[in-house]
Amino acid sequence: MNASELNRIARGMVASGKGLLAADESSGTIKKRFDAIKLDSTEEHRRTYREMLFTAPGAAESVSGVILYDETIRQKTRDGTPFPQYLTKLGIIPGIKVDLGAKPLAGFPGETITEGLDGLRERLIEYHGLGARFAKWRAVIDIADGIPTWFAIKANAHALARYAALCQENGIVPIVEPEVLMDGGHSIERCEEVTDLVLAATFRELFEHRVYLEGMVLKPNMIISGKKAANRAAPQTVAEATLRVLKRHVPPAVPGIAFLSGGQSSTEATLHLSLMNKLGPLPWALTFSYGRALQDTAIRAWGGLPANFAAGQKEFARRAKLNGLASTGRYAADMEAQAA
Ligand code: 13P
Repeated sequence: MNASELNRIARGMVASGKGLLAADESSGTIKKRFDAIKLDSTEEHRRTYREMLFTAPGAAESVSGVILYDETIRQKTRDGTPFPQYLTKLGIIPGIKVDLGAKPLAGFPGETITEGLDGLRERLIEYHGLGARFAKWRAVIDIADGIPTWFAIKANAHALARYAALCQENGIVPIVEPEVLMDGGHSIERCEEVTDLVLAATFRELFEHRVYLEGMVLKPNMIISGKKAANRAAPQTVAEATLRVLKRHVPPAVPGIAFLSGGQSSTEATLHLSLMNKLGPLPWALTFSYGRALQDTAIRAWGGLPANFAAGQKEFARRAKLNGLASTGRYAADMEAQAA
């Protein structure tokens, strides 16, 4: 492990005014996104869509890195440049999703454990050879009656830490993503209580696995009401609660925190990020690693039609720019209308 190189990459991923694009949808997930615009999920359609995002003029000013999927890291632009090489030339760091998904946790109905540790060392070596300099592993914690259990939280934190240590051994910065889902009708207080436990378990396991905190990025959920909650907390409350919880658990040695959007609307996710950064100074960089919140409006603008390729790119670059501003607290909701 080259510690200073890991730290350099991690700082690059959360560089001021920039954040990450999560474009690592598995084949199943991208099919759902394409179904919504009535497009078949063929390999060529998936390649074209990713090319639209990665080559969007201006986006590189606000995008520090892109999380790729196994299929995507092996694909090329129309003119034959492998995606990782294309991105690297633009100054965008290529990353790779390495977990193999959340599977039912035996003995714990309704809970999952993320798989993918077997053979991970060999896969990381291959991905590094293909140009990846960071990786992602997502643990999923659902809130419902009687769950999550402390056992499921600990099992997922343990797997996250084993993944993170393996990444660092192989010169790859781990994005550590323990996601508490916002599905369901729970209150913001319940989200805070569960996220508190999840982050406590995660950082304890990272310590025990000797993970180098200066060479990782945390990707957490925000502290937010469930999507179906009756009285959803206001944006300022979300921002304050999220910072309160992060300050309890994330040592300043961690260079940056890059949030997932988790089902928030695009504008909600941008506003929350900006409000938090306005509450600074903070001990870490606070930015985005959004999937849906960066892509939803762009994929609709494109609609799978070659004639709308540039319109899709323009919309993606616009969202990236607004989130880049939010990562330094300079976004305001009225910019949505101006930039449209
Ligand atoms: P969302 O921002 O759509 O939640 O996706 C981010 C991600 O990478 C989830 O693992």
